[in-house]
Amino acid sequence: MKPIQVGLLGMGVVGSGTFNVLRRNQAEIKGRAGRGIVITMVAELDLARARAQVDEGVKVVSDAREIIANPDIDIVIELIGGCGIAKTLVLEAIAAGKHVVTANKALLAVHGTEIFAAASRHGVMVAFEAAVAGGIPIIKALREGLTANSIEWIAGIINGTTNFILSEMRDKGVDFDVALKEAQRLGYAEADPTFDIEGVDAAHKATIMCSIAFGIPVQFDKAYVEGISQLGAQDIKYAEQLGYRIKLLGITKRRQANSSLGTKAGIELRVHPCLVPTRRLIANVEGAMNAVMVQGDAVGTTLYYGKGAGSEPTASAVIADLVDITRLHTADAAQRVPHLAFQPNAMSDLPVLAMSEVITSYYLRLRVADETGVLAKVTGILASAGISIDAVLQREADEVGAVGSPGGKPFVAQTDVIILTHDCVEAEMNSAIAQMQALPSVLEPITRIRKEELA
Ligand code: HSE
Repeated sequence: MKPIQVGLLGMGVVGSGTFNVLRRNQAEIKGRAGRGIVITMVAELDLARARAQVDEGVKVVSDAREIIANPDIDIVIELIGGCGIAKTLVLEAIAAGKHVVTANKALLAVHGTEIFAAASRHGVMVAFEAAVAGGIPIIKALREGLTANSIEWIAGIINGTTNFILSEMRDKGVDFDVALKEAQRLGYAEADPTFDIEGVDAAHKATIMCSIAFGIPVQFDKAYVEGISQLGAQDIKYAEQLGYRIKLLGITKRRQANSSLGTKAGIELRVHPCLVPTRRLIANVEGAMNAVMVQGDAVGTTLYYGKGAGSEPTASAVIADLVDITRLHTADAAQRVPHLAFQPNAMSDLPVLAMSEVITSYYLRLRVADETGVLAKVTGILASAGISIDAVLQREADEVGAVGSPGGKPFVAQTDVIILTHDCVEAEMNSAIAQMQALPSVLEPITRIRKEELA
């Protein structure tokens, strides 16, 4: 049978990895797909760079629409990124009856509903394994391997840049800025690292996993997003002393209504730094690696680990999608795997809960004046809010030093009080923190880091 023909938009590191892997493993890939898969056209503004990387006979063009207009092209791979021209071209490719493979998490997290609806209308597939956790086949696992399960929660290290920075901070005891510079020097972090360090990239990926797990439309605008740029080296150290590691997690959880807590049913969708018990495997995922835990009611806890970025790991996911499409494109559209795992008429309308409605446990660090009764006042506020304490760690005053206050007032001995709590509703914690912050003995803004036992 004639090979399936592919056009590639955007010839960067993932594009060249895709060429390399297709070339190296072509016999096995053909054996699995049932026919050959060849990239026959590439669109790239830097024509010379693209020509240097592709095989002879591949047509390199600067106008992506030449690929979309070519009736011989069956599949378009979009590796441009972002929600600008990439969105326009993906929609045009779909309208032209092409199947699309994309690694573009931002595009799907923000515009997925529109894109999947267009694909359904035109009877084509949009495949996006490479959009979440790079080479880890987590979309396949969630959509197919775990299809028997009612998914309870997902928690993932889904941004390698931030995991590298957190590993550096813990291993070397350095501050965030130093670790970020090292990540940039090694090429893990972009010159403008905002999307990674502020949690946006992880939130795009968590949004996609959330929709597949719970059958709700993609709703990036409802995700709670907090990055790691405010994280202090001392909190990583204190967490370690208490038996925890701090990771940037993308979390999504199904919540039943809880009348005693006054919370409603819905889906949690959040990205933030998180204490995780050191004994959990995921707490030991270091450097730029990714890992995703999925809890299903039948299977229990599962863990997927691997490279979340890079040329060939991401190409591995892109080519897996090419093979899937090659196998299925002649099948009746109704027999294909639905984009978001559930058939369009079986999607759920469960709401994404506001962060104030989320239930989790907490690490709190309070810099306080080391004087009689402070701890009693702090724990009294938590008790009145119905928040149960799990552990308290108080540093000796001389460990954090005594500093003079301005204006020639007497020295005030200061100490850090670290409190771990049991689960409570975030709104209750917000109000307790406001009350504790108002105590004259609390000298600095309270640090709050959420904690997940992932049991
Ligand atoms: N910038 C991402 C990361 C890789 O650091 O994991 C692409 O999503």
